[in-house]
Amino acid sequence: GPYETILVERKGRTALLTLNRPKALNALNLQVMNEVVAATEVLDRDPDVGCIVLTGSEKAFAAGADIKEMRPQGYMDMYLSDWFTAWDRLAQLRTPTIAAVSGYALGGGCELAMLCDILLAADSAVFGQPEIKLGVIPGIGGSQRLTRAVGKAKAMELCLTGRTMDAAEAERAGLVSRIVPAGELLAEALAVAETVAGMSAPVAMMAKEAVNRAFETTLAEGVRFERRLFHAVFATADQKEGMAAFAEKRPPEFTHR
Ligand code: HXC
Repeated sequence: GPYETILVERKGRTALLTLNRPKALNALNLQVMNEVVAATEVLDRDPDVGCIVLTGSEKAFAAGADIKEMRPQGYMDMYLSDWFTAWDRLAQLRTPTIAAVSGYALGGGCELAMLCDILLAADSAVFGQPEIKLGVIPGIGGSQRLTRAVGKAKAMELCLTGRTMDAAEAERAGLVSRIVPAGELLAEALAVAETVAGMSAPVAMMAKEAVNRAFETTLAEGVRFERRLFHAVFATADQKEGMAAFAEKRPPEFTHR
């Protein structure tokens, strides 16, 4: 394929994107960022893709931003090249995304997982924002998304001490939706993806938009936003199909429009 640091496969209506820099524990250099963003934006425009799964290796989802690449940079280098800003585009994808995390998800790796919509963890997963131990702070949204996910108490402790959380603690704290035995992680992530991809694509996009709005606005505005989308889904062919299938006691066959 056109990419050197990631693998992209299609399985039904699911796209599987695997970070593939095993020698560096999938450290996220600029090439990885550009390839992940480019690949997911192509998949996002493909009507045959209903869900994107992002995963790493058994040992590491991603051990963070590439420290060797960052080490020599100065303020002007970082500012002028707008270091890491392209990662924000992952949060703008309309297609639902699932992070399947096994092993280390540290620093930028934890931030990348938090950029996804659903976060599934293997029992081997380790999460943390250890940037402070390198004399820096999170730079791909970690201080914001971790705090929204687990609250100030844990986020502050993790960001100030650099200590990591195992999968059980991450689940208790609400960072991950579920823990799966490591050997079953990928199969489970693909099964969840196929379930999501089998739903109406526009309705899944709207559900995602509505949940994400909860992080951007007041409750009253969020509820109004939801109500607009709720009314809008009645313009879809899939609403007619979904409700007809229920009445006829058969599984729905969504046309994704
Ligand atoms: C570059 C990395 C890397 C990273 C690991 N490697 N993490 N290279 N950037 N973030 C490389 C190692 O240098 C080594 O390469 C190889 O991967 C294997 O790693 P080891 O350390 O030998 O493995 P192990 O002993 O099993 O330890 C695993 C680990 C450790 C605990 C995950 O690698 C580690 O602490 N990594 C750094 C984690 C971290 O600090 N992440 C946050 C980065 S800052 P060689 O060539 O030596 O064999 C960040 C900032 C975001 O993400 C925004 C800030 C601006």
